[in-house]
Amino acid sequence: MTVPADIVAIGTQAEAMLADLGAISAEPQRLVRLYLSPEHRKAADLIGSWMRDAGMSVSEDALGTVRGHWRPEKKRRLLIGSHVDTVIDAGKYDGPLGVVAGVLAVRELAARNADLPFGIDVLAFGDEEGSRFRTTLAGSSASAGAFDRSSLAFPDRSGISLADAIRAYGHSVDDIPAAAYAPENVVAYVEVHIEQGPVLEAKGLPLGIVTGIVGQSRMRVVVLGEAGHAGTVPMQMRQDALVGAAELIMLIEQTALENQDDGMVATVGRIEASPGATNVIPGRVGFSLEFRSSSDAKRKAAIELIKSDAQRISVKRRLEFAFEPFHETDTTACTPALQDLMSKAITSLGYQPIRLPSGAGHDAQMMARLCPMAMLFVRCRGGISHNPAEFASESDMGLSVAALVRFIEALAAKVSAGEAT
Ligand code: GLV
Ligand code: MN
Ligand code: MN
Repeated sequence: MTVPADIVAIGTQAEAMLADLGAISAEPQRLVRLYLSPEHRKAADLIGSWMRDAGMSVSEDALGTVRGHWRPEKKRRLLIGSHVDTVIDAGKYDGPLGVVAGVLAVRELAARNADLPFGIDVLAFGDEEGSRFRTTLAGSSASAGAFDRSSLAFPDRSGISLADAIRAYGHSVDDIPAAAYAPENVVAYVEVHIEQGPVLEAKGLPLGIVTGIVGQSRMRVVVLGEAGHAGTVPMQMRQDALVGAAELIMLIEQTALENQDDGMVATVGRIEASPGATNVIPGRVGFSLEFRSSSDAKRKAAIELIKSDAQRISVKRRLEFAFEPFHETDTTACTPALQDLMSKAITSLGYQPIRLPSGAGHDAQMMARLCPMAMLFVRCRGGISHNPAEFASESDMGLSVAALVRFIEALAAKVSAGEAT
């Protein structure tokens, strides 16, 4: 189907904005934009300038979330958001597309002088990936009134705590409670995001309606053994923490493989062995562990199983295992009535409205604690994400903004008619 030129032009604008944001990186050779870093500041200022150009007033909350307010005089607000932080060596679409789509949707509505029964806040959150601190969704959790203050003590890799980083960024942790929206003033939250998977491309469709976001559990696992001389300690007498960790990691993979009915995935993405020398038996290992599954009960059961596996390995190898959980979100459904509105918006553009779950985490998960929530997925090439090869086409991105505008108009009609979302 040929996409109308005016819609492609919006996508071309989105691509230009994403390219500008994608150039803001801590490293010249790869995209790295961490929460509360100088690059976050630059990106936030750029986004603020786009918001002003689109007719919004701009503020920033204590977590560094940039907020563009369109029609600020209206008490009831529709929230459109996503994140601007990245993974290490990221693509430029994961996160920023949702912010850019929000800005461009407001620009469209302002150009039409749309009169809606609510104002719109576009939210650019700074911490969805958890790449700097062990937090994830810090900004959206504050907006949703669900911020966990214990995370303020989390250090980054150089020992700077989240609280100190917030101060260095120019905000006060005392203002965090004021970042929370009052639920009665919020109509809904909607987020546009690349799919980060291959389903839409395989179906030949540009857009998809998200049915829900899988739950996840994240933790750090610490294994304690005894460091020793790699040349003198016989194999049977070692307390090698890294070999114990390796044995457990194989069982983690096996557990996820055995739970494929619920699409369980488990990942160890980071591991450090100490003291970290060729000729020293590793005495201490720390690794990250993440489980995701659409069944919260099975995910939690899998973690218990891994803990009992660790117990067995600890006896066999004379090691100690400690599990330090730092993030837990249950599977979150997108609001059915809003899924239906999104479906109508996509249908009105001439496309089949496919529904699919999200295996990736999103700020929408947290915002669902505050208000009704919807997500729109945009096809990405090869399903590739968390990778610099990430790509979404201008016409697909233009369609996502057009669908978002139609969704907002349909929501406005519903709100005006006094119907619940
Ligand atoms: C966010 O990208 C996540 O799902 O880890
Ligand atoms: Mn994302
Ligand atoms: Mn991501």
